[in-house]
Amino acid sequence: ANQWQGVLREWADVLDVTDASTVVTLGEGGTPLIESRALSSMTDARVLVKFEGLNPTGSFKDRGMTVAVSRAIERGAKAIACASTGNTSAAAAAYAAAAGIQAIVLVPEGRISMGKLAQSVVHGARIVQIRGNFDDCLDISKELAEQYPVHLVNSVNDDRIEGQKTAALEIIDVLGDAPDMHIMPVGNAGNITSYWRGFSQAETAGTATRRPRMIGFQAAGAAPIVRGEIVRDPDTVATAIRIGNPASWQQALAARDESGGYIGAIDDAGILRAQRLLASSTGVFVEPASAISVAGLLERHAAGEIPAGSTVTLTVTGHGLKDAAWGLRLEDGSDATPESADADTAQVAQMLGLA
Ligand code: F0G
Repeated sequence: ANQWQGVLREWADVLDVTDASTVVTLGEGGTPLIESRALSSMTDARVLVKFEGLNPTGSFKDRGMTVAVSRAIERGAKAIACASTGNTSAAAAAYAAAAGIQAIVLVPEGRISMGKLAQSVVHGARIVQIRGNFDDCLDISKELAEQYPVHLVNSVNDDRIEGQKTAALEIIDVLGDAPDMHIMPVGNAGNITSYWRGFSQAETAGTATRRPRMIGFQAAGAAPIVRGEIVRDPDTVATAIRIGNPASWQQALAARDESGGYIGAIDDAGILRAQRLLASSTGVFVEPASAISVAGLLERHAAGEIPAGSTVTLTVTGHGLKDAAWGLRLEDGSDATPESADADTAQVAQMLGLA
C-alpha cells in the first residue's frame, strides 16, 4: 500500500523539487483537519482544527524543515543552525539526524519545555543554552551563519516558509475551497507568512476562489505586533511564542491588512483554559501556544466578529505532550492527583459510584 510521501513529494508541483536524491523526509504533512462539534456549536460556525501536532516531531516545523534541510544538503552543507523556543530545534535536530549532518541549536536557557529539549538531545544536536531570550538566540544564529560554514534554518530562510505553506494547501484540498477565516498563533511570524503565501498562491492558481481573513494571536505578555513595539522581556506560559521582536513582523502585518484580518492578544489564563477546553471537548491535546487559536476563536466570537455559518479553520501548531506538565495543572492552579484504590473491583466500583 502507498503511504504519505512527505510534503516535498506530495506537493512537488508547488515546491519545485530540484533533485529527488537529496530529499530528507520523515513523512511530514498530511495532518488531519478535524471538525470540532463543540467549538462549532459554541460559535455558531463550522470550526475545523488542523492538528499539526501529528507531524513526526510533534509540530508544524517539520514541513519547513524537510525543505530547508533538503536544500542545505543540495548545497553541500555539513551543519545547520537555528535559534529556537524548542520546536524548530527539535525539527532541526531530527532532520539533521536523518540527513547525517550536524545540527547546532541555540535556545533560551531554562525557557524551553523539557520534552522539546529532550528531542534535541536524543537526535544528537549540539545544544547551547543562551543566557538571554529567543531574540538574542536568533541574532547569534544569524551571525554564526554569516561568519562560519553553517546553514541557517530559521524561518528567515525562505525554504522554511515554502514548506510550511503546504498546510494551507491541504486545508483547501480538504474543504474544496479556502475557509472564510483562518486563526493561528503568531510568534516569530513565519507561519502566518507561510499560510498567507499558500492561500494567495492557491487563489492565483485557481484551486481556491478566495482567500480567508487571517486572524493571528500573540500571548499578552509577548505581543509586540499588537502593541506596535518591541517587547524587551517577553513572558508567557506559552514558551513557544515567547518572542519580543518577530523576524517576519512586516509580513504578518501584510497578511492581516491584505486579508481584512486581525491580530490580537490572549492572556495566560485564557490560553490554559482554551487548552483544556479543546482537549476535553474535541479530543485534541495541544501545547499552550497552540491553544491560543482556540482562545482567539472564542474572543472573536465574543466580539461579534464571526458571522453565523461561516467556515473557520484553526491551526493548532504543536502536540500537548511537548509540554505535558500543563495538562496536570488544574484551572484553579492546583495539581491533578488522580485517586488511588486497592486492587479490588468492589472498592473501585464503589469509588466510581457504580455499585
Ligand atoms: N506554535 C508553536 C508550537 C511554535 O513552536 C511556534 C514557534 C509558533 C506557534 C509560532 O510560529 O514563530 O512561525 O509565528 N516556534 C518557534 C520555535 C519560534 O523556535 O520553535 P511562528
